[in-house]
Amino acid sequence: MDACMFSILFFSMFFLTIKAFESNCPMVKCSHDGPAIRFPFRVPGRQPPNCGRPGFDLVCKENTTMIDFPTYGPLVVKSISYDIRKLALLDPKNCVHEVFLNLNPSGTPFQYYYLLKNFTYLNCSTRLSPSLNQVSCLSDSRNHVYTVESSFPIPFSCKQLKAISIPFSYSPYLAGNSFGLGFTWRLPGCERL
Ligand SMILES: *[C@@H]1O[C@H](CO)[C@@H](O)[C@H](O)[C@H]1NC(C)=O
Ligand SMILES: *[C@@H]1O[C@H](CO)[C@@H](O)[C@H](O)[C@H]1NC(C)=O
Ligand SMILES: *[C@@H]1O[C@H](CO)[C@@H](O)[C@H](O)[C@H]1NC(C)=O
Repeated sequence: MDACMFSILFFSMFFLTIKAFESNCPMVKCSHDGPAIRFPFRVPGRQPPNCGRPGFDLVCKENTTMIDFPTYGPLVVKSISYDIRKLALLDPKNCVHEVFLNLNPSGTPFQYYYLLKNFTYLNCSTRLSPSLNQVSCLSDSRNHVYTVESSFPIPFSCKQLKAISIPFSYSPYLAGNSFGLGFTWRLPGCERL
């Protein structure tokens, strides 16, 4: 048997093993119309413990699918597109900028799905030009939070909260929460799956 034949055999066995492995891991849903949860995602307690991959734990909470990021907390899973590896999330507190400011995806299998761009968050004691994007969910009558391009000169009435890379769709010119929060994932050491 030559080496090529051997590797074909080896890989067929490998994939058959994975198929058998997956069939012991039933697809689950948190509700009738919730996203289908299967490999690499898993719901501990609802599937055998060998299912899915570490770092891909989801929880069902009152019929809602949630994912818990240690640096942020639970976010609602709106959909999972396995073909394009896209996880669409919603912030239950409806403040996507609070997620961008606090959630650190490094150290998780996830990264933002959309192209990133550097932005600066400012916390200002006065209102800036109405052409700038005020983050209403982080602002109140005395403190005004803005996202600006990183080249923007910081006004005297403002403190820089954070300079971070956030998805480009959230640029001040394309603002809006309609995109939701998109993440893609990578399986450590296993690019083909
Ligand atoms: C969850 O779904 C079940 C079945 O549809 C329903 O009976 C139950 O009231 C729901 N629970 C919550 C908290 O929405
Ligand atoms: C953002 O800024 C950091 C450091 O200033 C830089 O290393 C990084 O490449 C920038 N990212 C983007 C997407 O421009
Ligand atoms: C903005 O600054 C004020 C005053 O220092 C502070 O109370 C508030 O929590 C800050 N806002 C954010 C989002 O950090």
